[in-house]
Amino acid sequence: MQDQIAPHGGELINLVVSGKERDELLAKAKGLTKVVLNEKQLSDLDMMACGALSPLKGFMNSKDYNSVVKTMHLANGLPWSLPITLSVSNDIADKVKVGDEVSLCDGDGTILGLCKVEEKYDYNKETEAKEVYKTTEVAHPGVASMMSQGDVNLAGPVRVVNRVKYSDFVSYRKDPKELRQIFKEKGWKTIVGFQTRNPIHRAHEYIQKCALELVDGLLVHPLVGATKSDDVPVDVRMKCYEVLLANYYPSKRTMISAFPAAMRYAGPREAIFHALVRKNYGCTHFIVGRDHAGVGNYYGTYDAQLIFSNFDPIKLGIEPFFFEHTMFCKKCQGMVSAKTCPHSKEEHIALSGTKVREMLVAGIEPPVEFSRPEVARILIGAMKK
Ligand code: ADX
Repeated sequence: MQDQIAPHGGELINLVVSGKERDELLAKAKGLTKVVLNEKQLSDLDMMACGALSPLKGFMNSKDYNSVVKTMHLANGLPWSLPITLSVSNDIADKVKVGDEVSLCDGDGTILGLCKVEEKYDYNKETEAKEVYKTTEVAHPGVASMMSQGDVNLAGPVRVVNRVKYSDFVSYRKDPKELRQIFKEKGWKTIVGFQTRNPIHRAHEYIQKCALELVDGLLVHPLVGATKSDDVPVDVRMKCYEVLLANYYPSKRTMISAFPAAMRYAGPREAIFHALVRKNYGCTHFIVGRDHAGVGNYYGTYDAQLIFSNFDPIKLGIEPFFFEHTMFCKKCQGMVSAKTCPHSKEEHIALSGTKVREMLVAGIEPPVEFSRPEVARILIGAMKK
């Protein structure tokens, strides 16, 4: 009997080659056309390498790409909501023929892998923006990033000779295989994953702990890849997570690990992506609260929950835990949502992000009903710098 959740597609992919094969590929890669990956592509490659993006074994071909953009499923019918593409400039694309291999490099020129180019195809950025992000406005950071990338997609299987070198949060960077082993050692059979790109406030804490009442373990899995410039920097966030878990969470039932993805801000579609990838990391459940992975007013508060009804739960394979907008109620003297509290808005402490930022900049700690003081102090310290 299988004792852990199956990866998406049934098999945890490993694209990393070693030994003689690696030596040969490295030697070959030196003579190939170089594709220098941007930050998002580096994150994608790193996750592809270790199976976090299982079942993907390379960058998407046009069949998968079009199917994902239009139907949120791969061509073989498996759910998949975001394109994972090697989008390159026309200059690079002109140098590459179908059948060639290209070397995939980081900004320092280190060769990370090889991609066998089985297809070169144009794609329509307007269509991708409309379908994936529900807007073509470049004020949307995900759309802006996609619009600025190359116009041609190179597609094909990838082999990885060097993992992407990250010097930050090294001890927190755990591959799916490692996290699965840790869960086994802890004896956790049911694990809820929590995605975040923000410092954890009381509403986050509340929904995490509600979820933890129902499962064996909580994986706090903050995204550490690219985010927009006005998000709280990841090194500051990490300090917040550490102090919060040390003071308020049960150490035997909670752990932090870094999630290397880049943020797309694609709201509902990204919620599906976040859930599927957390399944690969070994989570059985995944938290989706209000406006998950949203930005501005591009998505409805619960769109990222509603989108799950478009998928066969068996094919998704990971169970979402949905939470309504949560805040502190002065009358109830606790965290609540409209689902659990009969009182009016006047009783609720729900601060906007802008308001909180203003308070922190002024050196004022937000109320304990909003943020744990240890977290607030770290944020105030960071703002001063
Ligand atoms: S995200 O872009 O990574 O989704 P964030 O870090 O703010 O953003 O949110 C992490 C998770 O907490 C998401 O599932 C989000 O929906 C949920 N969430 C954030 N704030 C609240 C809230 N006040 N009430 C309920 N859920 C929330």
